[in-house]
Amino acid sequence: MAISPAMSASPPIVRTVAALRAQVGAWRAQGDRIGFTPTMGALHEGHLSLVRLAREHAGKVVASIFVNPTQFGPNEDFDAYPRDEARDAALLAEAGCDLLFAPDVAEMYPPGAATTITVSGVSEPLDGQARPGHFAGVATVVAKLLNQCAPDVAVFGEKDFQQLQVIRRLVRDLDLPVEILGAPTARAEDGLALSSRNAYLTPAERTVAAALNRTLAEAGRRVRAGEAVAAAEAAAVDALLAAGFRQVDYVEIRRPDDLGRLGPSAISGPARILAAAFLGRTRLIDNMAI
Ligand code: PAF
Repeated sequence: MAISPAMSASPPIVRTVAALRAQVGAWRAQGDRIGFTPTMGALHEGHLSLVRLAREHAGKVVASIFVNPTQFGPNEDFDAYPRDEARDAALLAEAGCDLLFAPDVAEMYPPGAATTITVSGVSEPLDGQARPGHFAGVATVVAKLLNQCAPDVAVFGEKDFQQLQVIRRLVRDLDLPVEILGAPTARAEDGLALSSRNAYLTPAERTVAAALNRTLAEAGRRVRAGEAVAAAEAAAVDALLAAGFRQVDYVEIRRPDDLGRLGPSAISGPARILAAAFLGRTRLIDNMAI
């Protein structure tokens, strides 16, 4: 369900790294902890829950809106990605955001920018295979945003679970002085994970979309009941195709920390099931602990 802001207030908006650093520096000088929620805009309740979580851990909360071109593949939806800064700013104000950083592409990637961050291992399977270059784009822009804002704590959604683990690895490997918090996935009543891309779904597709969450939960139950991992994954792919998904990129049960493969038989320790599948032209992802 689309949400609309109740009022048209906005947090102050800065568009340059210098202005962001000046405001964050002033807050830090007066003793505030800084929380940060990076986004690409097209905000929904899931994003607002990230802002509220950041609020619980910091005196001042910064959000960013930047549709990052380097994390989109050539045939993906960078141009079509929904953009409505005024609506997003009003929602951020309601959620308790104190400052919006909304740079343009030239501010984030000035002419001559030539550095890309690649996180090996955890970036490679799943979406790393299905969307080559995606996580290098994410890691690079997140490293820049964290360096620009210098928050004490930054919040990312578990909805993008592989992204969250890539960011955790990045922060550890580069000794970035920030605490990374994962926030639980916000869901619609029928279980569909909230996503900016849900706006692309037709009403008929939106009805089918809830099968993604149901199917993952069912596969998790089967594996916990003793079914072999590969059999449960294969049954989930079949169930999604039968429900009306056009293409399934993956349904896989992995170790949660590094997203490495589990053994072939029934599982005993912590595990996460992750999936990506196309409904019409819309690519949906979801995951859950099992
Ligand atoms: O999850 C997102 O919205 C984006 O991938 C992020 C983390 C803001 C980086 O562009």
